[in-house]
Amino acid sequence: MSQLMNRAYNFGAGPAMLPASVMEQAQAEFLNWNHLGMSVMEVGHRTAPFMDLMAELTTLFREVLVIPDHYQVLFLGGSARTQFAQIPLNFLSEHEKAGYLTTGMWSSMAYEEASRLKKAYCVTDAQPTQYKSIPDPKTWIIEPDTAYLYYTPNETVNGIRCPIIPDMKGVPLIADMTSCLLTEPLNIENYGMIFAGAQKNIANAGMTVAIVRDDLIARIHDDKIPTMLDYRTYVTHQSMYATPPTFNCYLAYLMLKWIVSEGGLSVMSSRLNEKSEALYQVIDDSDFYYSDIEKPFRSKINVCFKLKKNALESEFLIGAEARGLMALKGHRAVGGLRASLYNAMPLEGVRALIEYMHYFAKVNA
Ligand SMILES: Cc1ncc(COP(=O)(O)O)c(C=O)c1O
Repeated sequence: MSQLMNRAYNFGAGPAMLPASVMEQAQAEFLNWNHLGMSVMEVGHRTAPFMDLMAELTTLFREVLVIPDHYQVLFLGGSARTQFAQIPLNFLSEHEKAGYLTTGMWSSMAYEEASRLKKAYCVTDAQPTQYKSIPDPKTWIIEPDTAYLYYTPNETVNGIRCPIIPDMKGVPLIADMTSCLLTEPLNIENYGMIFAGAQKNIANAGMTVAIVRDDLIARIHDDKIPTMLDYRTYVTHQSMYATPPTFNCYLAYLMLKWIVSEGGLSVMSSRLNEKSEALYQVIDDSDFYYSDIEKPFRSKINVCFKLKKNALESEFLIGAEARGLMALKGHRAVGGLRASLYNAMPLEGVRALIEYMHYFAKVNA
């Protein structure tokens, strides 16, 4: 109990807060998982108990996200950024190109990486708005021979989201959902592929989950793709060609169980709406704080805001930390403040932040 009372509200963009009950279960099982007398970290990945865990993890992902049978669920070791290269390496032949919606820092980096390796172009570019809004879909241009279109529904650094699912005229849509997967129900059939780094809503850092439609896998023909970067390797070997990130998989299993026990993705989504609406309300009602992201494009998950008295920012952060409101500093590329409201952030954490914001604004008016 005393450990729980010492837990801070971590508003960091990732690695993010995990639910206390999940951490407690991991702690209770740490030395002796599944009555085996060893930690899940010490168990061979080809043993029956671990294979069962992987099977259950896959089933849970399928159930929670309602993933149809013609999609593969893959567990990839390493960072989400690896996908920036892996996607063009797998899905672009010499005569094809990929279209990118560059709407913030992460999609721009993905576009740069794809351009380094293969042919890529911008369908639309939000850079001229300084990533405060996304140009009207009527202005987007999809070129012939486009093998896939790529976008980032929630831009974690810029605090901007794409409010619509782009209509890509039949071209497969690939989404980097690193910061938004498992925050709301999805229609998986809108996507050719979805991927997400684990460190926000899935588990601890070090794993990326990919959901890939079978016909995209079937289109991979390049036999020069390094084995560990070839999605077919993961499909053929159920993500177990090499040793998978076993502890991440275990923690993801606990996290998905937690989501189910809390009521599933519709509950995650309504909690997120409640948290972000409460926070934006304070920002919008105040003449002390402001958000410069245009309203329809504001991220619900990574709420970026600023102080009108910019010089007080460090003082704001010091006072916040003293109250256990951690990691509110915005990304170094954009500055300002950022409150990340992933699934494990309770409403009480947001209320504590709001109370502090009112207090800080009053004493510094
Ligand atoms: C949307 C998005 N894409 C990609 C990444 C990169 O993740 P990683 O550090 O796992 O490569 C992040 C990290 O925050 C992210 O938020």
